[in-house]
Amino acid sequence: MRMSAVATAIPPIRLLVYGIRQLWTGSHVIDDAALLLAEGRVAWVGRAAEAPPGQHDVYDAGGAIGMPGLVDPHTHTTFAGSRARDFERRLAGETYTAILEAGGGIHSTVAATRAASEDDLVALTRDRLAGMLALGVTTVEIKSGYGLTAADEAKMLRAARRAAGPVDVVTTFLGAHARPPGVPDYVDRVIDEQLPVCAPLADAIDAYCDRGAFTLAETERILRAGMAYGLAVRVHAEQVVHTGAAALAASLGALSADHLERIDDEGIEAMARAGTVAVLLPGAMAYLKDPAPPVARFRAAGVPMAIGTDFNPGSSPVRDLWACATLACLTMGLTVSEALAGITTHAARAVGRPDRGWLGPGARADLALYDPPPGEPAELRVLVQYLGGHRAKAVFKDGRRVI
Ligand code: NIG
Ligand code: FE
Repeated sequence: MRMSAVATAIPPIRLLVYGIRQLWTGSHVIDDAALLLAEGRVAWVGRAAEAPPGQHDVYDAGGAIGMPGLVDPHTHTTFAGSRARDFERRLAGETYTAILEAGGGIHSTVAATRAASEDDLVALTRDRLAGMLALGVTTVEIKSGYGLTAADEAKMLRAARRAAGPVDVVTTFLGAHARPPGVPDYVDRVIDEQLPVCAPLADAIDAYCDRGAFTLAETERILRAGMAYGLAVRVHAEQVVHTGAAALAASLGALSADHLERIDDEGIEAMARAGTVAVLLPGAMAYLKDPAPPVARFRAAGVPMAIGTDFNPGSSPVRDLWACATLACLTMGLTVSEALAGITTHAARAVGRPDRGWLGPGARADLALYDPPPGEPAELRVLVQYLGGHRAKAVFKDGRRVI
């Protein structure tokens, strides 16, 4: 029998976190900062010397660096199996698309994921999310796309949602990730069989529009069908070849278009007009030896840029969002501030969760605190300068300490 809500209710906590040497609010830096967290939200943020008086618990951050809980806006965290063999094939000169078209790549992950039980997938996803949380990531977007049948896609989405807590999981239905061999009417099946079952389990719909995957016309049909179910729109666009998918997504009011190595000016202008976020994925870019997306042109056009890990077993076996922030600076040309916004505010916008990724009155009280590497000053730029591995000293999710 369930206990009454009154008996199990946890008293609301008010907590003053002080002693933050440098805090990123999502848009700017505050030195010697403090925050008041109350009932899962940020009640106040500012200089510690100006902290409001009153009754609350206190936590001394001990001179740490502070960030809003990080948001990873693009991952394929729920999967089974290994693609280490693909990695060696690619090192030996085979291309990602050639391996995919020959039935390997995504297809081999599909076979392993279909064979896994929902409970297996929950356990794998939980372990992976725990590793991300340790680095200060408190919200993770997870796509389906390794099931490719209604039952298997739904299994993935259910597993992703069950793995949530304390990390928030935002799910995206990606039935249009690859074409299973021998299913000529696969697009119809995505729309007529998978979508009705998967839409209630997902926050957004996505499609992989590319050579070896889905055409622009198919992508439009699939995204529009998802919109009819009330799903937000995301798209894997302009990764291997230019298709026009970014402009299409923007015209549909997409939250984000992701990858974008081969986007053209028309796509950039359409994204700027629509406020569609460019999700940059430097892990996939490095592993596939792709050219950089046109960051200077996104910047000039005012397209907000987010950074994701694209964590998946094939094109981006990378779980470290901090490492991706650094790679976005080194290989794509982002500034330190752009990288910090890319893993916080802009990432939250890309997943349709504008209540987080920033720290100000009313924001969700998700906070990560870090000590700098030994001998370094407690400065935000140090965390971007050093390549990844930044374990948080404390993480607060919805105002409660979870690490
Ligand atoms: O974002 N390009 C398509 N989808 C993934 C790769 C998934 C995989 O290789 O398993 C991506 O890179
Ligand atoms: Fe992806």
